[in-house]
Amino acid sequence: MADADPTTLNSRDTLRLADLPVFTPEKSRISSHKLVGFDSRDIRARPFNLLRTSLAKKTKEKGFRLVGTTSATPAAGKSYLSLNLASSLARVTEQPVFLVDLDIRRASLAEEIGLVTEQGIESFLEGEVVDLTQVGVRIEGTQLGLFPAVRRKRNTAELLAGERFAEMIEIFRNRCEAAIILFDLPPAFANDDAMISLEHLDGYLLVVDSGRTTRKHVQDVLAMLHPTPCIGSVLNRYEGGFADSYGYGYGTGHYGKYYEATDDAADGTD
Ligand SMILES: Nc1ncnc2c1ncn2[C@@H]1O[C@H](COP(=O)(O)OP(=O)(O)OP(=O)(O)O)[C@@H](O)[C@H]1O
Ligand SMILES: [Mg+2]
Repeated sequence: MADADPTTLNSRDTLRLADLPVFTPEKSRISSHKLVGFDSRDIRARPFNLLRTSLAKKTKEKGFRLVGTTSATPAAGKSYLSLNLASSLARVTEQPVFLVDLDIRRASLAEEIGLVTEQGIESFLEGEVVDLTQVGVRIEGTQLGLFPAVRRKRNTAELLAGERFAEMIEIFRNRCEAAIILFDLPPAFANDDAMISLEHLDGYLLVVDSGRTTRKHVQDVLAMLHPTPCIGSVLNRYEGGFADSYGYGYGTGHYGKYYEATDDAADGTD
């Protein structure tokens, strides 16, 4: 592992969107990966817009800025939610929004938007890259900064428990202009990674896969991640549609409903 260069790290006071190189995703890639949050006219972005409003409110009222996305089991739709929510948020906030891929074993965000890269956030955590601006990109025409990861199979828990991780959190928390920083995490039950990461974040969104995630799963995740607050949960692949009495149904029957966490759940005690 290469040693970090403290001069470079310290010299950059604030991490700014404008410091990141621009990346232009192909339109076909955005649509083939069903990414709807980039387009304000796309009706399928509606659930993400609702969630965005609620999250922005929580950020303002309770100071939740560093927010993870996790689920009980794999393939629940965390990365899909993270990208759509981040792009939806970035359309309305005055300050930029940053999205970080912390699912280092199964990193997917670069691929989702068609970004080919050899080094991502894992290289920063390993000390191969000294400055976060070397691994982030600014999505053209948006206020969104993306910090992708390149998959690493081993030692991810060590990376997440290391000094470089603490340094990364310190930069995002104190020396970055983003209003909200979203972290795409692995499933909570897959390994320790989500739990270790969440010890440093302000809270998390729990993606519930309709039909696959059970009540017991949800209870176990809340208990496992306690005391980090669950800011809300999102029911994905829900088939209720617009006619659903909650009013958050999603026309094509996929994403889902958003529930505010109850106070008990938000404390992680339920
Ligand atoms: N609501 C949805 N509508 C359409 N496609 C969806 C939806 N949710 C998830 N998908 C698709 O399902 C697949 C799995 O979703 P995704 O990769 O977001 O899950 P994940 O929870 O991040 O998985 P992993 O645990 O592997 O990280 C992807 O191809 C994604 O595009
Ligand atoms: Mg994922």
